[in-house]
Amino acid sequence: MRVTEEIKSRLDIVDIVSDYLPLRKSGRSFSGFCPFHQNTRTPAFYVFPETQTWHCFGACAEGGDLFSFVMKKEGWDFKEALAKLASKAGVELEPFNPVNKKKQATEDKMAALLAAAADYFHMLFLHAPQAEAARNYVAQRALNEETIAVFKLGYALQSWNACRTHFQDQGYSDSELLAAGLLTENPDKGTRYDRFRNRLMIPIRDVNGRIAGFGARTLEKDGIPKYLNSPQTKLFNKSHLLFGLDGAKRHIREARQVVIVEGYMDVMQGWQAGFRNMAAQMGTALTEAQLRQLKRYTKRFVLALDADAAGQKATMRGLQVARETLDREVEVKFDARGLVQHEGRLQADIRIVTLPEGNDPDKIIRTDSAQWLQLLAQAQPVVAYVIDMATRDLDMTDAKAKTAVAQQVLPLIKDIVDPVERDHYWQALARALRVDERALRQIQVQEKPRVYSHPAMPPPPPSLSELEMPPPSQSGKIVRRISDGRMAAGKREANYLSQCLHHPQIMPQVNQRLAQNQQPPVNASDFTAAEDRLLLQQMVRWREGRAVASIDELCDSLDEALNERVQSLLALSPTPESELDRLADKLALSVLNWRQEKIGQLVGEVKQLFRKEQALDNTDAREMYEKLNEWTLAVLRIHKAKSAMSAVSRRKAEDLGNGRF
Ligand code: UTP
Ligand code: MN
Repeated sequence: MRVTEEIKSRLDIVDIVSDYLPLRKSGRSFSGFCPFHQNTRTPAFYVFPETQTWHCFGACAEGGDLFSFVMKKEGWDFKEALAKLASKAGVELEPFNPVNKKKQATEDKMAALLAAAADYFHMLFLHAPQAEAARNYVAQRALNEETIAVFKLGYALQSWNACRTHFQDQGYSDSELLAAGLLTENPDKGTRYDRFRNRLMIPIRDVNGRIAGFGARTLEKDGIPKYLNSPQTKLFNKSHLLFGLDGAKRHIREARQVVIVEGYMDVMQGWQAGFRNMAAQMGTALTEAQLRQLKRYTKRFVLALDADAAGQKATMRGLQVARETLDREVEVKFDARGLVQHEGRLQADIRIVTLPEGNDPDKIIRTDSAQWLQLLAQAQPVVAYVIDMATRDLDMTDAKAKTAVAQQVLPLIKDIVDPVERDHYWQALARALRVDERALRQIQVQEKPRVYSHPAMPPPPPSLSELEMPPPSQSGKIVRRISDGRMAAGKREANYLSQCLHHPQIMPQVNQRLAQNQQPPVNASDFTAAEDRLLLQQMVRWREGRAVASIDELCDSLDEALNERVQSLLALSPTPESELDRLADKLALSVLNWRQEKIGQLVGEVKQLFRKEQALDNTDAREMYEKLNEWTLAVLRIHKAKSAMSAVSRRKAEDLGNGRF
């Protein structure tokens, strides 16, 4: 992932903007008074969590991403913004130099190797006679062909070197195989052998679908370990990844909720049964990194925990003790206190449901999917859940036991950020223990100060609006259309930049096509990402300076972060010689398409606003209507330009055809 993407994936634009101005939830977005122009009547400034962008619908009529917001607000240049946001996100910036370029190339090669390995294991699974037992096992777990294909299930042969030999023949070295976690080295003897042998191979992908490692299930009864995972590598970090998230994110947005389960099988079974807003934490405690990633898609998390993970209050007490003594060293699957703190920092809504003893989602979904939905509907807020568990079979005549429970639950309550919610649980706990709330408030909780795992983010200010639950998903369709549109626009923007880097002569040609159709030249405001805006400006300057400009000269003039962007754009393929004469037409059309899409998106938001805000001030309403008119005209002009252009390119194609035949 590029560093700017990494930063954006760890931060939420809503949090950051909230540091500068109060935001209020308004439909799917957040609104506030624009910090960039005189705006006091109706909030004209909007933040869209789904696209992680902002826009002012008022006088300044500007928008952009997280970077452009802080740059504009703080007066920082891109480099400063990058440094500040990187430290906020806990991302380490590395100087971009030839060494890092090489590092990037190594990572790309590792990713290619892992992708090839997934294909290799998958082919073995599908066709190798030795994989018969694996195929039977998967059939017995009731996973069908489609699921097998989608998750690309595989099989590793029972052999010490089959995988190694296969990839050595393809030119990979031992050290590359070791680095990717496919080969293991015995540290004493120095011998090397295949890490995965006779196992069902489950590829684990990052949020973008790139294979980062494997989970490998034993096929032997009581084989140990049950799941052997890839070791920690450059690409595989178990505490950052969530299994299944790449395929689930769209569904998480639609369902406005993510269901977090423990295992691979749970996710795959759920996916097969149509419960697709699921991801797995792969057996370890949920980390803030994981929650932050998920928070881009929803703020509502439901944790479906195995009975043994959290169910017994004895276990919970045990965990509590373990946590206090060892602090963060122990790996616990259920850390109630941590969750409540995450919840506050992330302004999220985390709920817990425990599954009946001896059951996991895999089993429940397979045998009774109605029960699964029922269970999810019973999910409780973390603190309510803990109170419930702790007092379930408490002896109400045992005063000491009651104090112990209070000691256990109070720290959680004190961590709740929202005052109303906090008060609610003071009362709930008093009721559950059948004691006076005033007595509870006098208890001195014995505890060590806590170390936050994420020092960069201060706890957010309390907010009442977080108490309300998101409305049921009626607008799921719209959400999808817009976010897909964004994706497509992003790809088009990248394609334009990439082609212009590969074929610089194309830039003036595209602008000329646009000008012929009364359209402004490609300019910074055509791009969403702050870095792309800057890059375009640099590219224009670079072109203007020289008739023949080399990429190296451009790179020399760029900041490191922009350099990284250029490298990733250059990785997209150039246009083949034979299609070069049509490239300018294509790109000009593509620019118009994305301009139109962006306006369409804004129109959608404003219309939504009219529906939502009954209290639009008259003046604001007039301004908004004017905007709508302006945009409608702009779209009409784009339409006209588009049809003129396609007429021209049709004629050109016909001429070409006539010439040829
Ligand atoms: P479980 O033991 O609950 O396994 O571990 P499961 O998912 O139900 O597996 P099946 O149904 O027996 O096949 C939950 C998750 O913990 C991780 C895996 O991600 C697993 O899916 N785990 C478990 C390991 O990484 N290693 C292990 O040895 C066991
Ligand atoms: Mn299971």
